[in-house]
Amino acid sequence: ATISVRTRDGGLHSFDGRIGASLMENIRNAGFDELLAMCGGCLSCATCHVYVEQLPTSASLPVPSIDETELLEGSDYRQERSRLSCQIPFDETLSGIVIGIAPED
Ligand code: FES
Repeated sequence: ATISVRTRDGGLHSFDGRIGASLMENIRNAGFDELLAMCGGCLSCATCHVYVEQLPTSASLPVPSIDETELLEGSDYRQERSRLSCQIPFDETLSGIVIGIAPED
């Protein structure tokens, strides 16, 4: 199952994602350390902020929790397609997703 990541320099990189791990864990494990994810996925840092650039047809993402929405509201770079990548479990339906790493706040 493929994940594509656009790094801040605009480059697009694809790799095979691990099912069951979050998007954040997958991106970190693939070596993209510009996604800081400082809190390790416990929904308190917002440094795992990404943009969902492309979602495979028929895939859907979990609705953001109130806490996720509040954290994203604190970012200067929030967009309509913003999500915290630690809150999205990766599964087969998301194969082909394209994720952009948001600028650092
Ligand atoms: Fe901290 Fe996602 S890793 S909120």
